[in-house]
Formats: sequence, C-alpha cells, structure tokens
Amino acid sequence: MQSIHEKILAPSILAGDHADLKSSLREIEAAGLSWVHLDIMDGHFVPNLTFGPQTIKAMRSASNLFFDVHLMLDNPDKFVDAFIDAGADQVTIHVEPDYPIADTLKRIRERGCKCGVVLNPDTPAEAAKPFLAECDIVLLMTVQPGFGGQKFREDVLSKIETFSKWRNELGLNYRLEVDGGVDLKSASSCTARGVDTLVAGSAFFKADDRKLFNATVTA
Ligand code: DX5
Ligand code: ZN
Repeated sequence: MQSIHEKILAPSILAGDHADLKSSLREIEAAGLSWVHLDIMDGHFVPNLTFGPQTIKAMRSASNLFFDVHLMLDNPDKFVDAFIDAGADQVTIHVEPDYPIADTLKRIRERGCKCGVVLNPDTPAEAAKPFLAECDIVLLMTVQPGFGGQKFREDVLSKIETFSKWRNELGLNYRLEVDGGVDLKSASSCTARGVDTLVAGSAFFKADDRKLFNATVTA
C-alpha cells in the first residue's frame, strides 16, 4: 500500500547515551537523519521513567533535529504545553488513558506543533478513529511500551493495514509510524503495508553502518 509521504527513520534516543545525549544527537545527525524520537515515561502509564521538559530544552539548544515527542503519560493534557515550550516539533499522545483527547490534540495544533495519537499493541484501531482527522501522525506501538530492545509484535501488522486502508478511504494524509522492535526485517513488513515513519532505538544505535541502516529501511 502506497503512502504519500517520504519515508523517515526516527531513531529513539532511549537507546542512546544518557550521560552524553548531545553525542547521541550528533550520531543521528551524522547519519544524515532529520528526526529524533523522544520517549517520555511517567512510571504510571508505563513501568519505567525517562526524562522531562528540562532535558528536551537542553537537547533543543544542542540540535535542530525534528523532535518527535512520544508522551507515555497518564495525564498528557497536563504536560503538553511544557513539552512544546521546551522545543517539541510534534507531540503524540496515547488513546488509552482517560483525559480529553480531542481537546488536547487541538491545543497542540493551536500551539503550532504537529500532533497525533498512539495505540498500544492490544488497543483496537477503532479507539483512534474519532481523532484521525485531527492527526498529523498515527503511532502504532509494536511492543508494549516501557522499554527498548523488545521483540516486534507481528500481530500488529493487521492493524497497520487497517490504518493504511482508512487513510485512503477517508482521504486523510496522516503519517503512519511504528515504534518498538523495528529492525531491517520488521521495517520491511511495515513499509510494505504503508508505514512511512519508523522509530528504531536498539537497531539504529547498534548498527555498524547507520547510513546504510537508514538507506535500507527507508528504501
Ligand atoms: C518503547 C519506546 C520505543 C523504544 C524503541 O516504549 O516507545 O521508542 O525506544 O526501542 P527499540 O527500537 O529498541 O525497540
Ligand atoms: Zn516511543
């Protein structure tokens, strides 16, 4: 299934060097890439903690990469402004917690930032359908979020097909992004089904030749 978008690899800084995030940003830039994926975890919605707006602000002053900020929070509505102030270019919010999702997407958009929804592997596609017209991007988790280095969940492939189909049928142009366990093999299963935006943490930072890894997954 074709996408109208250029394919993009967004390396996840989660697999980078947290004592020297600047060097991880440089490694992404040196590979010729334009996006970085920033995973924000609250210890409630997911069983892990990462970093917050202060760190994003520091990274912002060190890089012009496009900041793709993935909020894994129970109450993202309380934090989107702080992340936008810190320098997010795009903020994605999960559909599973109970908060005003449509209002939050609208607020992100009104602040001049790109926005989108995220679905966990077991969340049905229908949960995102009411919000699709407001989304620049739909992010499908291909692992249960919380940790890098997990195995890609093949059972999400059919949901990817659903979002590709809806994009065509509804005449929408959201990006379709996957996150979790993305490597050379799983990336090609995803792009064959219309995915145009690939998050990769472990596979990117472990690759011997990161330019070649990018060229291969976005071919
Ligand atoms: C998982 C995060 C991912 C993670 C991906 O909770 O949202 O972005 O960093 O890491 P890999 O590519 O190692 O699965
Ligand atoms: Zn992520």
